[in-house]
Amino acid sequence: MSTTVSTEPVSSSPQVAGKGQAATVAIFGASGDLTARKLLPALYELWHEGYLSDTSPIVGVARREKSDESFRNEVYEALNGHVRGGAISPESWERFAARLYYRQLDIASPEGYPGLDRQLREVEEKAGLPPNRVLYMATSPDLFQPAVDALGAAGMIPGREDSRWLRVVFEKPFGHDLASAQVLSGNLKRQLREEQIYRIDHYLGKETVQNILLFRFGNSIFEPLLNRSHVDHVQITVAESQGMERGRGGYYDTSGALRDVLQNHVLQLLCLIGMEPPALFNAKDLHDEKLKVLKALAPGDKSSVGKWVVPGQYSAGVSGGQPAVSYLSEERIPADSRTETYVAMKVMIDNWRWAGVPFYLRTGKRMPNRVSEIAFQFKLPPLNLFSTVECEGDMCDLVGQRPNNLVFRIQPSESISLSFSTKRPGMQYQVHPVTMDFRYDSTFKSGLPEAYERLLLDVLRGDSTLFMRSDELEAAWQFVTPVLDYWEQKKVVPEPYRAGSWGPRGAEDLLWQAGHLWRNPTA
Ligand code: BG6
Repeated sequence: MSTTVSTEPVSSSPQVAGKGQAATVAIFGASGDLTARKLLPALYELWHEGYLSDTSPIVGVARREKSDESFRNEVYEALNGHVRGGAISPESWERFAARLYYRQLDIASPEGYPGLDRQLREVEEKAGLPPNRVLYMATSPDLFQPAVDALGAAGMIPGREDSRWLRVVFEKPFGHDLASAQVLSGNLKRQLREEQIYRIDHYLGKETVQNILLFRFGNSIFEPLLNRSHVDHVQITVAESQGMERGRGGYYDTSGALRDVLQNHVLQLLCLIGMEPPALFNAKDLHDEKLKVLKALAPGDKSSVGKWVVPGQYSAGVSGGQPAVSYLSEERIPADSRTETYVAMKVMIDNWRWAGVPFYLRTGKRMPNRVSEIAFQFKLPPLNLFSTVECEGDMCDLVGQRPNNLVFRIQPSESISLSFSTKRPGMQYQVHPVTMDFRYDSTFKSGLPEAYERLLLDVLRGDSTLFMRSDELEAAWQFVTPVLDYWEQKKVVPEPYRAGSWGPRGAEDLLWQAGHLWRNPTA
């Protein structure tokens, strides 16, 4: 079964001069992987679609000495073949490249900032733009504070009364635990006002994640069901098949699955599915409602973290049909590392809507598929009036009743599906489970924009709805920090799981105890 949806035609002539947001975008950490793989392609697409003004300068800032010309060549390498539509036409490239500049800067030292400011003013004057700026901190987090202090010392941070504006985007990790996040927030706020700070969680920019709010609060038929009276339990999975590719081991070993993905992406998904409808669809009301969810997360018993949280670490196995080494044999990983590459936990949201409903969260590297989804499993009907038949080929069996599931597939094969029971055609009342699917690719032909495109555009527009407010971020750290402390104090060694499997045995047991089973979604 599939849905039919009417779609508006998508404009095929996106270059609308002057329509786009006009500001300078300076990327600190311009030589990094994130800049090449995500930020530059996103800026190119925004420009190409007419959302970024034809005059907006893009300035790469990094430590190495480089000319504008060689920066442009690097950008071309990063973009050509990696943007929608594949190759970039010579005309598009010529127009896009004309706004690209490079500035060599030791980001940690304040001396270079007046020169940076001068160069930015020059390119802004050339473009006929006021000094309105987005600074994207795609750097290692230890540079956040020195960079912001140096911006302040160089007079580059506009005051409240100033007509020019500055917005600074911070990539994660924003802190390492509650205390460090609080210190960082406090220090940044000595220079920047909250409305100048954009803490990015790229999951919030994913089209499917934004659709959760619309699905819940733009329809009247589902929302009345999403509460403790109807939902049996909820599973959130963010699974990845990759391991420590692209030299990520060095960073990852200081982080682990709980800090790297669960504290931010998974908890944000939990907020969106658990929150109450906001009074207005604006940043403040949304942040307020999300914060209430984080505050209502029942702190699991700190002395028995082992009973509700399961850390895992992959051993050698097979991933994507290829042999995969163990985490401990990956590049830049100490042989005795206790870093978890997988974490599963059972959490409760202690409020009127959700009291008593378990939320099972898990994320891991080297799992069978790259797949992220949120699944609501509903309660069974109060009486089992019908028998259910399941067939494989010619073999049919009577099985127990199947619960209804509502599944948000975040990626890949983005979709929303609802499973329910139907009568199997025939002379008896036999139940057959079916699904009603909405698939993005069959309904919308235009493809989904990348998360960074939407988020960068929101920064340019000054809309912080899809970013994290400092109190939200701290509440998320407040929830996970006792787990991190417990692991550290008890020197907990994560349970091994085979690369290419769905995680350690302990995670199965976590659900078994409550009579539940993980869904193991295919990609
Ligand atoms: C990042 C993590 O925030 O999210 C990575 O640091 C992870 O370890 C990535 O791979 C997952 O994002 P996506 O969009 O590929 O699901």
